[in-house]
Amino acid sequence: MSKTLLITGGASGIGAETARQAATRGYDIAINYRTRDAQAKQVVADIEAKGGKAIALRGDMAREADIVRLFEETEKALGPITHLVNSAGSNGKRGRVDELDAAVISDLFAINVIGLMLCCREASRRMSTKNGGKGGVIVNVSSMAATLGGRLGSSAYAASKGAVDAFTKGFAREAAAEGIRVNSLRPGMVLTEMTEGRLKDAAFRASIEASIPMGRVGTSAEIAQAVLWLLSDESSFIAGAMLDASGGGYMI
Ligand SMILES: NC(=O)c1ccc[n+]([C@@H]2O[C@H](COP(=O)([O-])OP(=O)(O)OC[C@H]3O[C@@H](n4cnc5c(N)ncnc54)[C@H](OP(=O)(O)O)[C@@H]3O)[C@@H](O)[C@H]2O)c1
Repeated sequence: MSKTLLITGGASGIGAETARQAATRGYDIAINYRTRDAQAKQVVADIEAKGGKAIALRGDMAREADIVRLFEETEKALGPITHLVNSAGSNGKRGRVDELDAAVISDLFAINVIGLMLCCREASRRMSTKNGGKGGVIVNVSSMAATLGGRLGSSAYAASKGAVDAFTKGFAREAAAEGIRVNSLRPGMVLTEMTEGRLKDAAFRASIEASIPMGRVGTSAEIAQAVLWLLSDESSFIAGAMLDASGGGYMI
């Protein structure tokens, strides 16, 4: 059976690495991107160079109309979507709670939570056996921040990822009998464009690494491998789980 994987936020970091690795495992790939045209084209070119099939579709995953269009365009180009990875996300503006700004929080939740939920809605409308679909697999990229409230200054981000985990559990129980497996993957600190600016600061990096039992940050390749396992039949009895890919969690 052909496998079509849609990845939101697929032009960089964890999403891009998941796309590259998935293509070598027989998935046809649609990556969504918002601003990164050149990076999206590069991911597609890398996949095609190895004989894989990929397309890149622009869309803002904080906008419902773009989400609906993304699913329609993916299906039109590649056929039924069998797998979905929701990787698009933002770490927002870091700061103390007494500095919170309603518009900033609203934007953060629009992408990290509401957009992700609407992507799950679109997937469910297509994958659920109740809706005439043939089932499917979804991985929501959450964060270890959901477990402890995040590092200092990240409480809003942590709350958004806590919402992802709670939604994933509820959706998984609803969808399990309808052929859809949904899980969330919680990376710890991973070197990507989201974190590289802060990790360039040697003192900051040392303090982060001292708090990770394995003593180092992760790579997007390591996170992609965990995502691919959750997408695969090797995790066929796992639904509603939160998988931590975090070098052992935090020692704080
Ligand atoms: N890196 C870490 O340490 C870490 C740890 C835990 C969890 N995570 C989660 O992992 C996921 C991937 O992040 P990453 O580390 O791979 O960082 P990244 O390279 O910055 O990837 C995030 C991607 O999401 C896209 N995105 C953001 N808002 C979007 C929107 N409204 N519509 C469509 N795309 C949007 C970004 O594209 P634009 O720049 O064009 O918007 C970017 O390509 C995120 O959900 C993040 O919260 C990361």
